[in-house]
Amino acid sequence: MAKIKNIEFYNFRNFKNFKTSFDEKLNILFGDNGCGKTNILEGISLNVKGKGIRNSNIINLIKKKEDNFLIKNNIEIQKNDFNIEIFTEQKNEKFKKVIKINNDSSKDSLNFLNQSISYLIFLPEMERLFQASPSYRRNFLDRLIFSSRNDYNKLINKYKKSLFERNRILQSYKIDDDWLNRIENEICSLGLEIYKLRDLQLNILNIELNNMKNDHNFQFDVKLEIKDDFVNNEINFEEYLLNLRKSRVYDKQFGGTKFGPHKSDIISIVNNEFESSLLSTGQQKTIVLMVLLAQCNYLVNHKKINPIFLFDEIGSHLDKHNRQILLDMINRFEIQFFLTGNDKNLFSFVSTNAQFYNITKL
Ligand SMILES: Nc1ncnc2c1ncn2[C@@H]1O[C@H](COP(=O)(O)OP(=O)(O)OP(=O)(O)O)[C@@H](O)[C@H]1O
Ligand SMILES: [Mg+2]
Repeated sequence: MAKIKNIEFYNFRNFKNFKTSFDEKLNILFGDNGCGKTNILEGISLNVKGKGIRNSNIINLIKKKEDNFLIKNNIEIQKNDFNIEIFTEQKNEKFKKVIKINNDSSKDSLNFLNQSISYLIFLPEMERLFQASPSYRRNFLDRLIFSSRNDYNKLINKYKKSLFERNRILQSYKIDDDWLNRIENEICSLGLEIYKLRDLQLNILNIELNNMKNDHNFQFDVKLEIKDDFVNNEINFEEYLLNLRKSRVYDKQFGGTKFGPHKSDIISIVNNEFESSLLSTGQQKTIVLMVLLAQCNYLVNHKKINPIFLFDEIGSHLDKHNRQILLDMINRFEIQFFLTGNDKNLFSFVSTNAQFYNITKL
């Protein structure tokens, strides 16, 4: 169970020198456009592996005209306090993110941190999740998997590397058959593992969504599915491998592997009738919030993980259904929330004691 107690930014994004403490339950950051609300959520999200909620190039995190940034956090993990420092290091012209826990950057410490902190994230563009590209939906699902399996990104990265390597071999003047066979073998086992974990994750969400139906008086009945022509009728290792071999000529021309989990899509069926891409923007936001609530239920009740919610621009366009889902999350779980919006009044429906921060004025 992790909670961010306070944070300091030095030359991070638009902040020269910024310091604040946080409430252990509900933090509402408000202020004008461009004052730095999303930047604060981004800073918080950098506490674990990866590039943070914006998936930004690390160099853009450094305040313009400065050489480096420093983020200092005090985080409570299972009743113990840890000092976390995040900054960059330059190696061969490349910038790398460094995390230190109580001044220690050993692998064990980093693993401990990754295992202890889990984020659930809502970003404004997720309102259009079902109109966005399949890759955006895949990333959305992958982030949910990552929230309960902190080694999942390694699997995804390995798979992407293998695809890249296969393409490189196919494009080379003289193809090394042994090497190509080995890489294709690797693609099959990694690809099948990704299909399996995504399937598992969707099953978990569907079960949770179904269980929560009566409890929460949901407006919709939602079922999530993988859409993928390649694995339509189940696929085993041998078939997968055979298909890869058969598509070498095509893939060489096409410049990439034409099937696999990097081509899957995720759809959501509403009331057993139609896809949620037909819903209004606000209704699609409802579906995303329902899915996040379902994942939170799963993490807390089955995995004993208490995530931290980072909800950017959640305040705008919340109708009574969406407000209710948000309130349910806040009231039900003993977890920390960070919500942002332009105006304090957008959050007047929140009755729980909340800490408000006027970021324009800080
Ligand atoms: N590397 C950087 N150096 C200096 N300023 C930066 C850097 N990166 C971003 N900014 C500035 O940070 C500000 C954006 O902050 P942020 O996106 O957090 O705003 P916000 O409060 O979330 O606004 P909105 O309400 O519009 O979403 C912009 O003014 C932008 O120019
Ligand atoms: Mg913003």
